[in-house]
Amino acid sequence: MKKIILFFILGLTAHLFAQTTLKKIAFGSCGHQDKPQPILTTVDSLFKPDVFIYLGDNIYGDSHSMAALRKKYALLAAKSEFQRLKKNAKLIATWDDHDYGKNDAGEEYRMKKQSKKVFLTFWEEPKNSPRWKRAGIYTSYQFQTKGKKNIQVILLDNRTFRSKLLKANPEKDKKDKNDYTVNTDYHATMLGTQQWKWLEEELRKPADVRIICTSTQFGTEYNGYETWANFPLEQAKMIRLIEKTRANGVLFISGDVHYSELNVIKPDGMYPLYDMTSSGITETWDHVEPSDFREGQAFQGNNFGGIEFLENENGVLKIKFSVFDVKGVPKIKKEILLSELQLPKKI
Ligand SMILES: [Fe+2]
Repeated sequence: MKKIILFFILGLTAHLFAQTTLKKIAFGSCGHQDKPQPILTTVDSLFKPDVFIYLGDNIYGDSHSMAALRKKYALLAAKSEFQRLKKNAKLIATWDDHDYGKNDAGEEYRMKKQSKKVFLTFWEEPKNSPRWKRAGIYTSYQFQTKGKKNIQVILLDNRTFRSKLLKANPEKDKKDKNDYTVNTDYHATMLGTQQWKWLEEELRKPADVRIICTSTQFGTEYNGYETWANFPLEQAKMIRLIEKTRANGVLFISGDVHYSELNVIKPDGMYPLYDMTSSGITETWDHVEPSDFREGQAFQGNNFGGIEFLENENGVLKIKFSVFDVKGVPKIKKEILLSELQLPKKI
């Protein structure tokens, strides 16, 4: 009997959640558990999102010891600013290298199964979630706006399957800079076969807006640090997949780099692919990498990202894409009509 009541309550909760109207999503990355995180107070008290997306480096775990990792998550959990945000918004998360457990690590990281368990436990993944059963932590969510627009949120896992990075060697190749060089091996991958297959199925599901969350930046040129551009064949594959599945309304959000910026890739014959980067919750960096794809200026203070869904009475949806500083002042702004994110009709 107890079991029946529990299933009934769980079912009811899921149903109610599906009915929740989505107005605002906030997102961020790169928060050190040892530092105060006032940006979370700004998110909660000024922006008031329905959902907050953690884009990775949510703690600086950097340890093979799961006990150490759990201790660092506990420091985040103990912060009052985190607790308030958790009370008022739905928190969803993917990871990047530091919460995965090792700087710049990919599929070769030997503690990835154990670290996944710690991650899913901390983020309170429901016991019946497919995330527990398959390799990696990728997943997706569906929300609906007041005007019944379907918003799909896709969380990618850029770590579990990613091929090893190749070290830059400027003496051999003058185009090389910073840490890593471009990998054009046909077999090299960002997402791995299973995740690519899953992503294709996701992109074929009906949705008006699709927010693809990628811990490392999607929309930049090669810069010698971690980005999709280190695997240009995989970056091109993503663009081809969006085209092939006729997936309209795609927007990328990313983190990792300790500054924020808006990049846009303009592939031939399709709509512009925006990538809004928000990083970091506590971390900053004094140097911004050059990018021909950047719109406007990067912002180097602590920040969070915001996506607001604005609908008029005729059902026209405008997406307000922003990055805010710790005072809640917008530092990067972009308004996009959903009608601008549509593939040209096939003749
Ligand atoms: Fe990172």
